[in-house]
Amino acid sequence: MGYIGSHTVISLLENNFEVVIIDNLSNSKEEVLDRIEKIAGVKPTFVKLDLCDADQLSQFFTSKEGLNIAGIIHFAAFKYVGESAENPLKYYHNNLLSLVNLLGAMETFGLTNLVFSSSCTVYGNVQEMPVNEQTPLQPVASTYGNTKKISEEIIADVVRVHKFNSIVLRYFNPIGGHPTGLLGEYPSAFTDNLMPALTQVAMGKKEKFNVYGGDYNTPDGTCVRDYIDIIDLAEAHVKAINYLFANSGATINGVYNVGTGKGFSVMEVIKAFEQATGKKIQYEIVDKRKGDVEKVFADPSLANEQLGWKAQRNLEDMIQTSWKWQQSR
Ligand code: WQD
Repeated sequence: MGYIGSHTVISLLENNFEVVIIDNLSNSKEEVLDRIEKIAGVKPTFVKLDLCDADQLSQFFTSKEGLNIAGIIHFAAFKYVGESAENPLKYYHNNLLSLVNLLGAMETFGLTNLVFSSSCTVYGNVQEMPVNEQTPLQPVASTYGNTKKISEEIIADVVRVHKFNSIVLRYFNPIGGHPTGLLGEYPSAFTDNLMPALTQVAMGKKEKFNVYGGDYNTPDGTCVRDYIDIIDLAEAHVKAINYLFANSGATINGVYNVGTGKGFSVMEVIKAFEQATGKKIQYEIVDKRKGDVEKVFADPSLANEQLGWKAQRNLEDMIQTSWKWQQSR
């Protein structure tokens, strides 16, 4: 029931899926269930459990809530780049053990379809842009990113032997919220992401926005990223699970970029934010942030062609729903 999971649940419900949420609430709130019900008109089944506890997981799959599960979308992982640098073991333990337990349960209970939440961060510092799924991966700058890279390798290895199907989605930079303003990314002490920082400045909760580096080898010297609307990202999961269902006879171990294919610099996002909201953003160019790559944006053509998914929303849409969410809080 985190940021991406909750929006994906809405898209699944809107596509007539029956959804069971399992979550240990370590980075989400149970109130999200009520918000999902307000938006989708359905309150999904929720079971509180920790994927790092293999016994809890086995009990789930033998309980009535856990029977007849047709597909699994695995979001459960810690995701803060900075925190992962300070506490790598917490990240390796949680992000890898939860996946290994889930894969073990899939084998034990004969579950066959998995969609896994990965990240463009696995590409590391690549020069050639855009990146596609065949772009050789470079060393990853963060422990968080390394857990995603290792997770992809675990899945590829296990799927081959245990004959179940998986799709790995490499998210680019998810931003935005639900158009109703009822759902978005909850702020966290650990987050240091661009959009929450911008909205905090616009709300007057932060004095100025720190631009991390102004002398990168990019048109305006600031980092370039592929920002993707959270609703587009949610819909990519529906396309992925439908793809697995439609190809159940095959052996699938797909990896797809989920991005718009367009890169925006930090300064371009600031200007777009000011235009979209009418708010002036005070900013200062400060030192580069350790671990940031200069530029990364997607070639999303494989997901477009094979999954029938393409991002529909533009930067202004993402800014508007981000701003609406921040104001609603
Ligand atoms: C974007 C750009 C910053 C804040 C990470 C993870 C990725 C995903 C999203 C989990 C960068 C610049 C930011 C600020 C700034 N995480 N920036 N001032 O680092 O590209 O990606 O978060 O799902 O996997 O790797 O996202 O939003 O932190 O930064 O100048 O106050 O904005 O330097 O260029 P990032 P971000």
